[in-house]
Amino acid sequence: MEKREKLYEGKAKILYATDQPDYVIQYFKDDATAFNAAKKGTVDQKGVMNNKISTKIFEFLQSEGIPTHFVKHLSDREMLVKKVQIVPVEVVLRRRSAGSLCRLLGIEEGRKLKNPVLEFCYKRDDLGDPLINEDHIQALGLATPQEIATIREYVFQINELMAKFFANLNLELIDFKLEFGRYKGNIILADEISPDTCRIWEMGTGKKLDKDRFRHDLGNIEEAYQEVLSRISK
Ligand code: TMP
Repeated sequence: MEKREKLYEGKAKILYATDQPDYVIQYFKDDATAFNAAKKGTVDQKGVMNNKISTKIFEFLQSEGIPTHFVKHLSDREMLVKKVQIVPVEVVLRRRSAGSLCRLLGIEEGRKLKNPVLEFCYKRDDLGDPLINEDHIQALGLATPQEIATIREYVFQINELMAKFFANLNLELIDFKLEFGRYKGNIILADEISPDTCRIWEMGTGKKLDKDRFRHDLGNIEEAYQEVLSRISK
């Protein structure tokens, strides 16, 4: 597999072409941003840890029948993935209240939600990724009703699978963000799944082991990511 030109650089990752048109290399950076890049920094070794954590979670989800873009872990910071056309919608699933949900609804953090709450956000940095609904998605042609139905089904399945996966490691999954892409006519899970894109609390203590440590200057960010990685790697 030959690495070719840079195709796209995002806030935390870079995509490179390869000599095979259906595959790209996803490179994980140490850069971290929050609040629509109003806050910027780097977290030492984050890229390496997120690449490993994402690899483990994609392998697990794939083994449970969820189609993903993951092909293989190539090196410390590189993962080979299928080249998808990203659906420009971020899908958030919430189990307990945290982050923007607390601001939206004026509720305290950590409230157990009576049902899993699925949210869609329009992937538009210039607008701050606004919350949208299925009518907006259809009205703008961001995805078809069939694609939205497929995405919803996968997200609820992934929620059940990941919550059990983390519970086995004595970690509680609070919420997470997913992105999907189109590949050869099908919707598949793309992007990454890591402490950058999930909220994960230690069971019992409620200790935050995710990017909220960066967002809110809680300290020991590297240690938190390392803790998640070592539990996943056991
Ligand atoms: P929020 O509470 O800030 O809306 O975040 C919900 C979940 O989505 C949380 O697990 C963090 C993740 N997330 C991202 O992965 N990328 C983003 O740009 C944002 C805002 C949240």
